[in-house]
Amino acid sequence: MSFSGLLLFFVLSLKFRLSVCHPQCLDFRPPFESTEKLFCSDYEDFGCCSLIRDRSLRSRYNSILKELRNEVTIDQKGCRSFLKSVLCQECSPYAAHIYDAEDDRVKRPFPGLCPDYCSDFYDRCRSLIPFITNDTGIAKAMVSREQFCENLTLTDVDYCYPDWVNKNVLNQSISRDTRTEEGCLCLEPFAPNHRLRNALSFRYSPDDTGRIFVSEQIGVVHIFYKNQTRLQEPFMDLSDVVLSSSSPGDERGFLNLAFHPRFAENGRFYVFFSINDEVRLRQKIRISEFRVREDDGNKVNRTSERVIVEVGQPYWNHNGGEVSYRS
Ligand SMILES: *[C@@H]1O[C@H](CO)[C@@H](O)[C@H](O)[C@H]1NC(C)=O
Ligand SMILES: *[C@@H]1O[C@H](CO)[C@@H](O)[C@H](O)[C@H]1NC(C)=O
Ligand SMILES: *[C@@H]1O[C@H](CO)[C@@H](O)[C@H](O)[C@H]1NC(C)=O
Ligand SMILES: *[C@@H]1O[C@H](CO)[C@@H](O)[C@H](O)[C@H]1NC(C)=O
Ligand SMILES: *[C@@H]1O[C@H](CO)[C@@H](O)[C@H](O)[C@H]1NC(C)=O
Repeated sequence: MSFSGLLLFFVLSLKFRLSVCHPQCLDFRPPFESTEKLFCSDYEDFGCCSLIRDRSLRSRYNSILKELRNEVTIDQKGCRSFLKSVLCQECSPYAAHIYDAEDDRVKRPFPGLCPDYCSDFYDRCRSLIPFITNDTGIAKAMVSREQFCENLTLTDVDYCYPDWVNKNVLNQSISRDTRTEEGCLCLEPFAPNHRLRNALSFRYSPDDTGRIFVSEQIGVVHIFYKNQTRLQEPFMDLSDVVLSSSSPGDERGFLNLAFHPRFAENGRFYVFFSINDEVRLRQKIRISEFRVREDDGNKVNRTSERVIVEVGQPYWNHNGGEVSYRS
């Protein structure tokens, strides 16, 4: 396979487990800034709780304290603040990681706590635990501090509470969200009436037609103009081969498209998409070259596909996806 002469580099931003992951809520959506004051105030500027969710955490907190009102030690031992911090982990911008819910989608009954914090919590406030969860695994692990804290250890230890808060590499994405006096990078919706399904890439064609190629995760690429009108017929429809699903958080699908630098003359472009791996019953990613039809520059020539590379993937997430041109 020869790449010579091609001034094209494919940047595969592959990420693996145990590396830095993006903030993610339990519903796999990105965190947001709350418009209201929250009980879980640490996660007001950037977190996962709507006002309704926050109110329900507050009422759980209050009812647990009410049941414990005869335990005088609760106040002395700082258990109120432990209780609040533990309950409020659902609002953390890393909630999906702290509850180990990112891969198998089964939320743990208790957030992952870092060893020192967990020991302190267990020693001072273990009487709170049955009020927070009735999970039998947790109840069994309560025979000792060591077993309890071992049970709360996350698969991905980097995300345990509260250490992640002080990990620069993790909290960068949070700090970055703050606005400065100079204003912000402002975004406005493009062609909102077209109701695209998970549009993932937006590329101007490198010619003088002013066309914008917008792709949907399911594998359909549409041509738009700057005035937000869209050509009736899609440019390309690979949905019969692209592997994607309707599950929220599924990162597979048609992920990107990049034009050849001489696209205007040769009509070549490159696409990155997920496909089934029938042999291993999993998934692969494929990067292919396609050309536009000789008789219609607004349509792909499906039979021109030249597969450049295929790579097997163990997971349905973190499969890369970026493909771009660098001179
Ligand atoms: C655990 O079970 C008890 C008794 O059934 C109940 O009163 C309590 O509310 C439960 N706790 C949680 C966190 O569900
Ligand atoms: C730890 O918790 C899980 C579920 O929360 C449970 O299935 C498991 O048995 C527990 N492990 C121990 C050692 O108690
Ligand atoms: C991020 O971590 C640094 C220490 O590494 C700390 O000084 C800073 O306050 C943290 N930022 C946030 C938003 O928590
Ligand atoms: C939008 O722009 C395209 C290309 O310039 C043009 O063909 C089309 O007529 C325009 N549509 C409207 C509604 O202005
Ligand atoms: C489509 O591509 C095939 C294979 O490269 C080629 O033989 C055929 O002429 C092309 N058809 C059109 C209409 O561009």
